[in-house]
Amino acid sequence: MHSEMPENDNLDNEDIERKKQEQEIRKRMIERRRLAEKRRVRRNRLFALAVLLIFILIVVKCCSAIKNNKKDISADSVVQSNSAEEADVKNKSFDSSKSAESQVQESKHKIEEKNGMTFVDGILIVNKTYSLPADYDPGTSSVAQNAFDKMAAAAAKDGITLFINSGYRSYQEQVNLYNQYASERGTEEADKVSSRPGHSEHQTGLTFDVNTTELSFEGTPEAIWLEKHCAEYGFIIRYPKGKEDETGYIYEPWHIRYLGKEIAEKVTESGLTLEKYLGITSDYKYAKDKGCISQ
Ligand code: DAL
Ligand code: ZN
Repeated sequence: MHSEMPENDNLDNEDIERKKQEQEIRKRMIERRRLAEKRRVRRNRLFALAVLLIFILIVVKCCSAIKNNKKDISADSVVQSNSAEEADVKNKSFDSSKSAESQVQESKHKIEEKNGMTFVDGILIVNKTYSLPADYDPGTSSVAQNAFDKMAAAAAKDGITLFINSGYRSYQEQVNLYNQYASERGTEEADKVSSRPGHSEHQTGLTFDVNTTELSFEGTPEAIWLEKHCAEYGFIIRYPKGKEDETGYIYEPWHIRYLGKEIAEKVTESGLTLEKYLGITSDYKYAKDKGCISQ
Protein backbone atom coordinates (compact mmCIF):
# COMPACT_ATOMS: atom_id res chain seq x y z
CA MET A 1 0.00 0.00 0.00
CA HIS A 2 2.80 2.18 0.99
CA SER A 3 4.81 1.36 -2.12
CA GLU A 4 1.87 2.10 -4.53
CA MET A 5 1.66 5.73 -3.67
CA PRO A 6 4.82 6.94 -5.48
CA GLU A 7 3.81 5.00 -8.55
CA ASN A 8 0.48 6.88 -8.61
CA ASP A 9 2.30 10.06 -8.01
CA ASN A 10 4.53 9.29 -10.95
CA LEU A 11 1.57 8.61 -13.16
CA ASP A 12 -0.07 11.89 -12.15
CA ASN A 13 3.11 13.75 -12.79
CA GLU A 14 3.50 12.16 -16.21
CA ASP A 15 -0.07 13.01 -16.99
CA ILE A 16 0.43 16.59 -15.90
CA GLU A 17 3.67 16.77 -17.88
CA ARG A 18 1.98 15.37 -20.99
CA LYS A 19 -0.90 17.80 -20.66
CA LYS A 20 1.54 20.60 -20.24
CA GLN A 21 3.37 19.54 -23.39
CA GLU A 22 0.08 19.25 -25.26
CA GLN A 23 -0.89 22.70 -24.06
CA GLU A 24 2.52 24.00 -25.12
CA ILE A 25 2.13 22.42 -28.56
CA ARG A 26 -1.38 23.85 -28.89
CA LYS A 27 -0.13 27.27 -27.84
CA ARG A 28 2.66 27.12 -30.42
CA MET A 29 0.22 26.06 -33.12
CA ILE A 30 -2.11 28.90 -32.23
CA GLU A 31 0.84 31.31 -32.26
CA ARG A 32 2.01 29.93 -35.64
CA ARG A 33 -1.51 30.28 -37.04
CA ARG A 34 -1.72 33.82 -35.69
CA LEU A 35 1.58 34.73 -37.32
CA ALA A 36 0.54 33.09 -40.60
CA GLU A 37 -2.72 35.03 -40.53
CA LYS A 38 -0.81 38.24 -39.84
CA ARG A 39 1.50 37.54 -42.78
CA ARG A 40 -1.49 36.79 -45.00
CA VAL A 41 -3.19 40.09 -44.06
CA ARG A 42 0.08 41.99 -44.69
CA ARG A 43 0.49 40.28 -48.08
CA ASN A 44 -3.09 41.15 -49.07
CA ARG A 45 -2.59 44.75 -48.00
CA LEU A 46 0.60 45.01 -50.07
CA PHE A 47 -1.15 43.48 -53.05
CA ALA A 48 -4.07 45.91 -52.74
CA LEU A 49 -1.62 48.80 -52.43
CA ALA A 50 0.26 47.68 -55.55
CA VAL A 51 -3.01 47.39 -57.49
CA LEU A 52 -4.02 50.86 -56.31
CA LEU A 53 -0.63 52.30 -57.33
CA ILE A 54 -0.84 50.71 -60.78
CA PHE A 55 -4.36 52.09 -61.17
CA ILE A 56 -3.25 55.59 -60.16
CA LEU A 57 -0.32 55.33 -62.57
CA ILE A 58 -2.62 54.34 -65.43
CA VAL A 59 -5.03 57.20 -64.62
CA VAL A 60 -2.16 59.73 -64.47
CA LYS A 61 -0.76 58.46 -67.78
CA CYS A 62 -4.16 58.64 -69.45
CA CYS A 63 -4.74 62.17 -68.16
CA SER A 64 -1.36 63.39 -69.39
CA ALA A 65 -1.89 61.72 -72.78
CA ILE A 66 -5.27 63.45 -73.12
CA LYS A 67 -3.69 66.75 -72.04
CA ASN A 68 -0.85 66.41 -74.56
CA ASN A 69 -3.26 65.53 -77.27
CA LYS A 70 -5.33 68.62 -76.51
CA LYS A 71 -2.18 70.76 -76.51
CA ASP A 72 -1.13 69.44 -79.94
CA ILE A 73 -4.50 70.20 -81.34
CA SER A 74 -4.81 73.66 -79.88
CA ALA A 75 -1.30 75.00 -80.43
CA ASP A 76 0.39 73.98 -83.65
CA SER A 77 -2.74 72.96 -85.33
CA VAL A 78 -4.68 76.07 -84.82
CA VAL A 79 -4.15 76.42 -88.37
CA GLN A 80 -6.99 74.48 -88.16
CA SER A 81 -8.07 76.84 -85.51
CA ASN A 82 -10.60 78.69 -87.39
CA SER A 83 -11.44 75.19 -88.04
CA ALA A 84 -13.75 72.40 -87.46
CA GLU A 85 -15.31 73.10 -84.07
CA GLU A 86 -15.17 76.84 -84.46
CA ALA A 87 -16.65 76.50 -87.87
CA ASP A 88 -19.39 74.26 -86.59
CA VAL A 89 -20.68 77.22 -84.67
CA LYS A 90 -20.07 79.79 -87.36
CA ASN A 91 -21.45 77.88 -90.29
CA LYS A 92 -24.45 75.72 -90.04
CA SER A 93 -24.62 74.23 -93.51
CA PHE A 94 -22.70 70.99 -93.94
CA ASP A 95 -21.76 70.29 -97.49
CA SER A 96 -20.66 66.73 -98.03
CA SER A 97 -20.49 66.67 -101.82
CA LYS A 98 -16.99 66.74 -103.26
CA SER A 99 -15.57 67.89 -106.57
CA ALA A 100 -14.19 65.27 -108.92
CA GLU A 101 -10.72 66.66 -108.29
CA SER A 102 -10.89 66.26 -104.54
CA GLN A 103 -12.17 62.72 -104.87
CA VAL A 104 -9.18 61.77 -107.01
CA GLN A 105 -6.81 63.29 -104.46
CA GLU A 106 -8.37 61.50 -101.55
CA SER A 107 -6.31 58.40 -102.21
CA LYS A 108 -3.10 60.18 -101.17
CA HIS A 109 -4.21 62.81 -98.70
CA LYS A 110 -7.15 63.03 -96.39
CA ILE A 111 -9.50 65.67 -97.74
CA GLU A 112 -12.40 66.61 -95.53
CA GLU A 113 -15.15 69.09 -96.14
CA LYS A 114 -16.80 70.59 -93.13
CA ASN A 115 -19.26 73.43 -93.16
CA GLY A 116 -18.16 74.44 -96.62
CA MET A 117 -14.47 74.50 -95.68
CA THR A 118 -11.80 72.10 -96.88
CA PHE A 119 -9.18 70.48 -94.67
CA VAL A 120 -6.36 68.52 -96.27
CA ASP A 121 -4.55 66.32 -93.79
CA GLY A 122 -6.20 68.50 -91.16
CA ILE A 123 -4.94 71.78 -92.65
CA LEU A 124 -7.50 74.39 -93.62
CA ILE A 125 -6.95 75.03 -97.31
CA VAL A 126 -8.04 78.11 -99.21
CA ASN A 127 -6.86 78.65 -102.76
CA LYS A 128 -8.34 78.85 -106.24
CA THR A 129 -9.76 75.32 -106.00
CA TYR A 130 -10.99 75.50 -102.42
CA SER A 131 -13.00 78.35 -100.99
CA LEU A 132 -14.62 79.53 -97.79
CA PRO A 133 -18.30 80.26 -97.24
CA ALA A 134 -19.12 83.95 -97.67
CA ASP A 135 -20.30 84.21 -94.08
CA TYR A 136 -17.13 82.71 -92.63
CA ASP A 137 -15.76 85.61 -90.60
CA PRO A 138 -13.46 84.40 -87.80
CA GLY A 139 -11.43 87.61 -87.53
CA THR A 140 -7.70 87.44 -86.89
CA SER A 141 -6.61 84.22 -85.19
CA SER A 142 -5.14 85.09 -81.80
CA VAL A 143 -2.70 82.20 -82.17
CA ALA A 144 -1.42 83.52 -85.49
CA GLN A 145 -1.29 87.06 -84.10
CA ASN A 146 0.74 85.92 -81.08
CA ALA A 147 3.10 83.98 -83.33
CA PHE A 148 3.56 87.07 -85.48
CA ASP A 149 4.24 89.26 -82.44
CA LYS A 150 6.91 86.83 -81.24
CA MET A 151 8.48 86.77 -84.70
CA ALA A 152 8.46 90.57 -84.94
CA ALA A 153 10.12 90.79 -81.51
CA ALA A 154 12.84 88.36 -82.62
CA ALA A 155 13.33 90.28 -85.85
CA ALA A 156 13.65 93.54 -83.93
CA LYS A 157 16.55 92.04 -81.99
CA ASP A 158 18.26 91.53 -85.35
CA GLY A 159 17.52 95.13 -86.32
CA ILE A 160 14.66 94.14 -88.63
CA THR A 161 11.24 95.79 -88.48
CA LEU A 162 8.28 93.62 -89.35
CA PHE A 163 4.65 94.72 -89.14
CA ILE A 164 1.31 93.60 -90.43
CA ASN A 165 0.29 95.50 -93.51
CA SER A 166 -2.86 93.50 -94.09
CA GLY A 167 -4.33 90.65 -92.06
CA TYR A 168 -7.86 89.33 -91.79
CA ARG A 169 -10.18 90.37 -94.61
CA SER A 170 -13.89 89.62 -94.72
CA TYR A 171 -15.54 88.20 -97.83
CA GLN A 172 -17.03 91.61 -98.61
CA GLU A 173 -13.66 93.35 -98.28
CA GLN A 174 -12.25 90.83 -100.73
CA VAL A 175 -15.14 91.57 -103.12
CA ASN A 176 -14.15 95.24 -103.10
CA LEU A 177 -10.42 94.58 -103.38
CA TYR A 178 -10.70 92.03 -106.19
CA ASN A 179 -13.14 94.22 -108.11
CA GLN A 180 -10.73 97.11 -107.85
CA TYR A 181 -7.90 95.01 -109.34
CA ALA A 182 -10.22 93.60 -112.00
CA SER A 183 -11.46 97.01 -113.04
CA GLU A 184 -7.90 98.34 -113.27
CA ARG A 185 -6.21 95.34 -114.96
CA GLY A 186 -8.93 92.97 -116.17
CA THR A 187 -9.77 89.62 -114.57
CA GLU A 188 -6.86 87.69 -116.11
CA GLU A 189 -4.24 89.96 -114.57
CA ALA A 190 -6.22 90.45 -111.37
CA ASP A 191 -6.35 86.67 -110.88
CA LYS A 192 -2.55 86.51 -110.72
CA VAL A 193 -2.32 88.81 -107.72
CA SER A 194 -5.70 88.86 -106.03
CA SER A 195 -8.07 86.12 -104.97
CA ARG A 196 -11.67 86.05 -105.94
CA PRO A 197 -14.05 86.43 -102.99
CA GLY A 198 -14.20 83.32 -100.86
CA HIS A 199 -10.83 82.17 -102.22
CA SER A 200 -8.55 84.49 -100.25
CA GLU A 201 -6.46 83.07 -97.43
CA HIS A 202 -6.88 86.42 -95.71
CA GLN A 203 -10.45 85.38 -94.90
CA THR A 204 -9.06 82.57 -92.69
CA GLY A 205 -7.57 85.04 -90.22
CA LEU A 206 -4.36 82.99 -90.42
CA THR A 207 -2.61 85.07 -93.05
CA PHE A 208 -0.67 88.34 -93.01
CA ASP A 209 0.90 90.58 -95.60
CA VAL A 210 4.10 91.79 -93.98
CA ASN A 211 5.36 95.39 -94.35
CA THR A 212 4.38 96.05 -97.96
CA THR A 213 2.78 94.43 -100.98
CA GLU A 214 5.13 96.24 -103.38
CA LEU A 215 7.24 93.94 -105.54
CA SER A 216 10.26 95.95 -104.37
CA PHE A 217 9.96 94.09 -101.03
CA GLU A 218 11.79 91.18 -102.68
CA GLY A 219 15.43 90.98 -101.65
CA THR A 220 15.17 93.53 -98.83
CA PRO A 221 16.75 92.58 -95.48
CA GLU A 222 13.19 92.29 -94.11
CA ALA A 223 12.09 89.88 -96.86
CA ILE A 224 15.27 87.83 -96.46
CA TRP A 225 14.84 87.64 -92.68
CA LEU A 226 11.18 86.73 -93.05
CA GLU A 227 11.88 83.91 -95.49
CA LYS A 228 14.71 82.57 -93.33
CA HIS A 229 12.92 82.62 -89.99
CA CYS A 230 9.15 82.59 -90.48
CA ALA A 231 8.83 78.80 -90.20
CA GLU A 232 10.35 78.97 -86.71
CA TYR A 233 7.23 80.89 -85.74
CA GLY A 234 4.79 78.70 -87.63
CA PHE A 235 4.51 80.58 -90.93
CA ILE A 236 5.33 79.77 -94.54
CA ILE A 237 5.88 82.06 -97.50
CA ARG A 238 2.71 80.93 -99.16
CA TYR A 239 3.39 81.96 -102.76
CA PRO A 240 7.07 81.26 -103.49
CA LYS A 241 8.97 82.49 -106.51
CA GLY A 242 8.44 80.65 -109.79
CA LYS A 243 5.57 78.53 -108.47
CA GLU A 244 2.71 80.42 -110.07
CA ASP A 245 1.54 77.24 -111.82
CA GLU A 246 1.15 75.47 -108.51
CA THR A 247 -0.16 78.19 -106.20
CA GLY A 248 -2.04 80.18 -108.81
CA TYR A 249 -0.34 83.45 -107.79
CA ILE A 250 2.82 85.37 -108.55
CA TYR A 251 5.64 85.49 -106.01
CA GLU A 252 4.46 87.28 -102.88
CA PRO A 253 7.42 87.49 -100.50
CA TRP A 254 5.23 89.38 -98.01
CA HIS A 255 2.30 86.95 -97.80
CA ILE A 256 2.70 84.49 -94.92
CA ARG A 257 0.31 81.79 -93.79
CA TYR A 258 0.21 80.38 -90.27
CA LEU A 259 0.38 76.59 -90.16
CA GLY A 260 1.91 76.02 -86.74
CA LYS A 261 5.64 75.48 -86.22
CA GLU A 262 5.69 71.75 -86.86
CA ILE A 263 3.89 71.80 -90.20
CA ALA A 264 5.45 75.09 -91.32
CA GLU A 265 8.94 73.67 -90.76
CA LYS A 266 8.07 70.46 -92.58
CA VAL A 267 6.64 72.32 -95.57
CA THR A 268 9.61 74.71 -95.66
CA GLU A 269 12.16 71.90 -95.39
CA SER A 270 10.40 70.05 -98.23
CA GLY A 271 10.99 73.04 -100.50
CA LEU A 272 7.51 72.46 -101.90
CA THR A 273 4.53 74.75 -102.21
CA LEU A 274 1.67 73.91 -99.88
CA GLU A 275 -0.23 72.67 -102.93
CA LYS A 276 2.50 70.20 -103.92
CA TYR A 277 3.11 69.22 -100.31
CA LEU A 278 -0.54 68.25 -99.96
CA GLY A 279 -0.99 67.04 -103.53
CA ILE A 280 -3.74 69.47 -104.40
CA THR A 281 -4.48 71.99 -107.14
CA SER A 282 -5.17 75.69 -107.08
CA ASP A 283 -7.32 76.34 -110.09
CA TYR A 284 -10.72 77.93 -110.46
CA LYS A 285 -11.67 75.32 -113.04
CA TYR A 286 -11.82 72.73 -110.23
CA ALA A 287 -13.60 75.02 -107.80
CA LYS A 288 -17.16 74.20 -106.88
CA ASP A 289 -18.14 77.81 -107.43
CA LYS A 290 -15.76 78.05 -110.42
CA GLY A 291 -14.32 81.10 -108.73
CA CYS A 292 -17.45 83.07 -109.39
CA ILE A 293 -16.97 86.79 -109.03
CA SER A 294 -19.44 88.24 -106.56
CA GLN A 295 -20.61 91.81 -106.65
N1 DAL B 1 -2.94 88.30 -102.73
C1 DAL B 1 -3.54 87.08 -102.32
C2 DAL B 1 -3.43 86.06 -103.38
C3 DAL B 1 -4.97 87.30 -101.91
O1 DAL B 1 -5.64 88.13 -102.54
O2 DAL B 1 -5.40 86.63 -101.02
ZN1 ZN C 1 -1.71 88.45 -98.84
